[in-house]
Amino acid sequence: MKVSVYRKAHFNAAHRLHRKDWSDERNQATFGKCNNPSYHGHNYELIVKVKGEIDPETGFVIDLKVLKDIIEEKVIERFDHKNLNVDVEEFQDINPTAEYIAVVIWRILRQEIKEDLELSVTLYETPRNFVEYSGE
Ligand code: NI
Repeated sequence: MKVSVYRKAHFNAAHRLHRKDWSDERNQATFGKCNNPSYHGHNYELIVKVKGEIDPETGFVIDLKVLKDIIEEKVIERFDHKNLNVDVEEFQDINPTAEYIAVVIWRILRQEIKEDLELSVTLYETPRNFVEYSGE
């Protein structure tokens, strides 16, 4: 009897999508407004899904208070009001696209959540554009 538990979180962050090995024209054509040299911000919405068996003693899959604190400490404090390209070491060498941000968040959280629980991360970069990563 597996149940999925979800926690939503939010952070604001700046980024720029740019490849140094590409021409300005190609960067602009590929990344558009996200190539702005002065960076720009997004209001990121994060949904963390944890799926697993209900613990018969607590009745929980995972204590949502614990999950909330993990997300806050490990993700939000590191990402919120930051320039992802400059301030977050994981993005020194990779573009902070929604895809890669979701992968980085998943890897961070995976270390904090019991192995027998499934983990999935959904990240909204805008209300209409979002990605999901489940570790595959
Ligand atoms: Ni952008």
